[in-house]
Amino acid sequence: RELYVFEQVNSTNDLAKKKAAEGASHGTVVVADQQLSGRGRLGRPWASPPGTGLWFSVVLRPPLKPFLAPQLIFVSAVAVCHAIRDYTGLPVTIKWPNDILFSGKKVCGILTELSAEIDIINYVVIGIGINVNQEMADFPPELQEKAISLAVAGNTKYNRVGLLKAILKELEKEYEIYLTEGFPAVLKHWRSLTSTLGQEVMVSSTDETFTGVAEDINGEGCLLVRTEDGNVRSVMVGDVSL
Ligand code: BTN
Repeated sequence: RELYVFEQVNSTNDLAKKKAAEGASHGTVVVADQQLSGRGRLGRPWASPPGTGLWFSVVLRPPLKPFLAPQLIFVSAVAVCHAIRDYTGLPVTIKWPNDILFSGKKVCGILTELSAEIDIINYVVIGIGINVNQEMADFPPELQEKAISLAVAGNTKYNRVGLLKAILKELEKEYEIYLTEGFPAVLKHWRSLTSTLGQEVMVSSTDETFTGVAEDINGEGCLLVRTEDGNVRSVMVGDVSL
């Protein structure tokens, strides 16, 4: 596969999109030790200091209609969660739609970006950011409460290249399962790894906030939340806090 390794980039997602637009093949990986303007979901910044984290992006060229692209969010979350569990032995879980948590704190975020025409996907970039070897003091004050590294969680440092290999292998595996067995097989894995279902959650979606119990996800990957009045609402885009 094509592999690009950098000491410093603005954002591996931006670079991966550029490579993809120039024709980079399915499976291309862009990884950097440091990102100067790492990006998170919903326009947020993603702190990406050097020497400690795993910041990388994977180019996929799936044979799918564009409306199915969000399903790849679940494919990647399952793969990353499995790989971290196998590699570290830590009982990390998935928070809908695709954060990876250790005891309620975020160790990993995933940012998926799509380039498509009416009926075909040009490429999808899966951007994965993992807090691997940071000490608690390395996190900016506003993240101290919400974030944690694998090293703090496991009380040991981890090899970033070894973890990257484990994730790429798992991503290939889950992607293959998705293409051959379909989305239900992926959802089955996702359900077994999540800490969101059955929980009381506060949902912040694009234009409103409400609370309820996260009951399930549907075949499209929407979170189904039962509110106090007994209605079930489906959430496509948004954030949940537990
Ligand atoms: C989130 O939780 O909001 C998603 C965070 C995604 C961060 C990764 S780090 C590698 C890739 N490059 C970026 O600029 N963002 C993603």
